[in-house]
Amino acid sequence: MALALKLFLFSLLLPLCYCADPIAHYCAQRFTSSQIQANINQVISDLTTKASVGGFATTSSGKENNTIYGLAQCRGDVSADDCSACLASAAKQFPVTCPKQADARLWYDYCFVRYDTDNFIGQSDTGFVTILYNVNNATDPVAFDNAVSKIMAKVNAEAVSPGSNSLGREKTKFTQYVTLYALAQCTRDLQPLQCAQCLSTTLQWFPIYCSHRQGCQVLYSSCKVRYEIYPFYFPLDGETGNPAKDYITKTLHPH
Ligand SMILES: *[C@@H]1O[C@H](CO)[C@@H](O)[C@H](O)[C@H]1NC(C)=O
Ligand SMILES: *[C@@H]1O[C@H](CO)[C@@H](O)[C@H](O)[C@H]1NC(C)=O
Repeated sequence: MALALKLFLFSLLLPLCYCADPIAHYCAQRFTSSQIQANINQVISDLTTKASVGGFATTSSGKENNTIYGLAQCRGDVSADDCSACLASAAKQFPVTCPKQADARLWYDYCFVRYDTDNFIGQSDTGFVTILYNVNNATDPVAFDNAVSKIMAKVNAEAVSPGSNSLGREKTKFTQYVTLYALAQCTRDLQPLQCAQCLSTTLQWFPIYCSHRQGCQVLYSSCKVRYEIYPFYFPLDGETGNPAKDYITKTLHPH
């Protein structure tokens, strides 16, 4: 009986847990129009359905000044199931994180979803940025930063190369015991040159926030990069030890 009660209470909690907090968000453009809300709902629903197949979609809904444009993309290495679960989670989270805002963006590990009144599709956006860095530093930090520079150059080049689906993934042994994993990704609406420019813009934050850090990620609306000393992209390597995963988050709005 006690167990049944516990299970019952747990099931009440599930809907709350299912709409997970994003790792980053941006909300702007307050509105009151119910037509805009209807268009946002339509865009979110379209994106959730369309991007669940193939991991990427753009859409729009409405006309003239109430048009809403949307984009959704899953990280290129996640499974279709993880992708659609992430998109469903984002869809539920928008009204919680960005209620009545017509420019809204949610970043998760597995997906990114955005809608806006401006047609941003095909434009590189390197305004708003979120940086997450591990509080812990690498041993032999100078050599480590050099290894990070090298692997970032590699994944960035890979993400821009034809056939990569705007995704770069690499790993390299730093020492016998430490492996460095890195990933770079652009949204798939960008041209290769725009992707390259977005990725190179991420690098300006490395000396300021990432140097010596055991892990760091830079999240823009159009591209993101990340490195860690544990496996985090698919296919997952066997877990190496028990690395510290304490991160500090910085959000910046450069002009
Ligand atoms: C859209 O334009 C119409 C008329 O041009 C105006 O009445 C309305 O307030 C505008 N709506 C928004 C959301 O800007
Ligand atoms: C890591 O290094 C930075 C300076 O580069 C320092 O401020 C910070 O306290 C260090 N973190 C730890 C956990 O030692």
